[in-house]
Amino acid sequence: MKTLVTSALPYANGPIHLGHMVEYVQTDIYVRFLRSCGEDVIYLCADDTHGTPIELNAAKQGVAPEQFVRRFYEEHQRDFADFDVKFDHFWSTHSPENRRYAELIYSRLKEAGDIDRREVEQAYCEKDGRFLPDRFIRGTCPNCKATDQYGDVCERCNKAYAATELIDPRCATCGTPPVRRKSVHLFFRLSRHADFLRELIRRPEFLHPGLSAQLQQFFSKGLADWDISRDGPYFGFPIPGEENKFFYVWLDAPIGYIATTEKWAKETGKAPDALAFWAEDAQARVLHFIGKDIVYFHALFWPAVLRAAHLKRPDRILVHGHLTVNGEKMSKTRGTFITARSYLDALDPSYLRYFYAANLGAGPEDLDLNLNELRLRVNGELVNNLGNLANRTLSLIAGQLGGKLSPAGHGEGRTVVSDALARAAEVRGAYERLEYRAAIKAINEIGQAANQFLTAKEPWKKLKAEPEAARADLSDAAEVVYLLAALLEPVVPRLSAKLFAQLGAPALGFAALGKASYPLLDRALPLGAPSPLIARLEEAQVSAITKPQAPLEAKAAEAGPSEIEYADFAKVALKVGKVLAAERVPKADKLLKLSVDVGEGSPRTIVAGIAEAFPETSKLVGRSVVVVANLKPRALRGVESKGMVLAAGPGGKELSLVDPGAMPPGTLVK
Ligand code: MSP
Ligand code: ZN
Repeated sequence: MKTLVTSALPYANGPIHLGHMVEYVQTDIYVRFLRSCGEDVIYLCADDTHGTPIELNAAKQGVAPEQFVRRFYEEHQRDFADFDVKFDHFWSTHSPENRRYAELIYSRLKEAGDIDRREVEQAYCEKDGRFLPDRFIRGTCPNCKATDQYGDVCERCNKAYAATELIDPRCATCGTPPVRRKSVHLFFRLSRHADFLRELIRRPEFLHPGLSAQLQQFFSKGLADWDISRDGPYFGFPIPGEENKFFYVWLDAPIGYIATTEKWAKETGKAPDALAFWAEDAQARVLHFIGKDIVYFHALFWPAVLRAAHLKRPDRILVHGHLTVNGEKMSKTRGTFITARSYLDALDPSYLRYFYAANLGAGPEDLDLNLNELRLRVNGELVNNLGNLANRTLSLIAGQLGGKLSPAGHGEGRTVVSDALARAAEVRGAYERLEYRAAIKAINEIGQAANQFLTAKEPWKKLKAEPEAARADLSDAAEVVYLLAALLEPVVPRLSAKLFAQLGAPALGFAALGKASYPLLDRALPLGAPSPLIARLEEAQVSAITKPQAPLEAKAAEAGPSEIEYADFAKVALKVGKVLAAERVPKADKLLKLSVDVGEGSPRTIVAGIAEAFPETSKLVGRSVVVVANLKPRALRGVESKGMVLAAGPGGKELSLVDPGAMPPGTLVK
């Protein structure tokens, strides 16, 4: 049977970070595992593009939301690809396919009598002319009186409340006190599906039992119907037949799974359309991997919507916990908000994939990325145990033994290989149950046993006197390396590919392993050239990924500038500068290293995030710029930057340097 696997659709509202990567790595491992077992599986994902936060962020940057989300579309795909997360298709919820399916599903819900119109009263900002979601109202917490809290929950005392309870509520964008205003909304009658859902979430093959217990609370309170409409202005799909109403982002987001299936089908021709997977009677399995924060949407709303629309409900929802870094929630100021890109700039993705696998189980427990533990674990297991086994085995054979294996033997080595092979089913079972940490544990034990065998046999001492005995032992060790490459492939595919190449052997997967017996390797074939599997992780390398970020320009812009005193402005020394040289900063797509004459005798080095706007760096040389001359020096990607140049525009490719005209370098700008 065909299997469709999805990961949740990341918001096109910011970069992919290491928290997200827990999910995409977990899913990618599972998909690779299923393929290794010979299953017919496709892995789909997309950007989630709609909703108020994206709309407002786009407006803040002065770009259309379509354009805003397009930037992340490329960036997200690059991040995933560089982490070896391999989708069969990555699409977008702002797509014609998604609009068509959203409209189709909505029309079916209406036909089924599952849509209800109701008047609701909500906060409204008269200045901005928009209804305000809870997150866009700020005020004083009614409980602990902390100021500047969101309209739904206080970040100081954690109390949840209704936005109407906030003291002195204000529109988060413009500060105007909101008024109450009525509007008609469309509701999906979730309550009509309560019996179906109650039965569904109780099935252990559908949802982890701990989670279904958690969801039961919604039934005891009575399932509330679900508001699926939002009034304009809103970035989303207009609701057919309604005036200025749009589908709520969470209605069309999961429909994005179907839309992406449709796009994949049309692009590859491997299925006539999405219905091959989503028709009520489709002969296919659908698995959704998600984080624990979005279970409600996937286990309740989504199956009910699909049922009401006569489509196939998902077969399984696989839920993981959240990532913490060094025991705490990721934080920008502590430098533990690590983007996928800043990790990739410093480290090989295999380290993180390995570490996540070594810590992941089937349940929704949180996972901690302790950076010290990452280093110790990777060095102790991946480098010292598995890497060392491969490296000493393969380089000894390649060296004095001419890269040739011996014919299959009958000695102790054969037992080591057979014992290892006998554990393949255990590893397979662990992957199957999503107990990756158990798979990694067994894999390490197999590696240890082979290392112990070599340590006992000491083939390196026999190379001269008894080369054939050495060759026999090392050939059996090479068998174990081959097996380990196969067992590790879902987790660290690029390392396994390297091992297969060094062994001169074809890729090996679980499908073949099920029937395999000693010897696994074709002993007549010569080995490839050996090279170390992966480098040790050094402390400095790891700490490089958690440097607290200089309060980024972007972050200040996020909050929106507030009023300042003249004295504050007077602190900024702006000077005319002239660019003498410009070059790219290695491994940093956005940064240029400029040498700027600011009239001080020797030029300054300034690192500026303008690389995308100036692909031809030579065009910058000779340009006059405005420099913030008294900014404290700060390190950007390891380059010390003294000052900053002013540019106008939303960023990326759209930036133009502020031009001071014909004044000489060093002139004060006032
Ligand atoms: N757009 C919605 C999902 C729509 S699915 C139809 C969304 N996007 S998200 O970008 O916020 O998160 C995407 C996935 O990453 C979610 O499953 C979420 O749980 C997961 N994670 C985001 N931050 C995470 C951690 N810190 N740790 C682990 N997973 C996290 O939700
Ligand atoms: Zn406002």
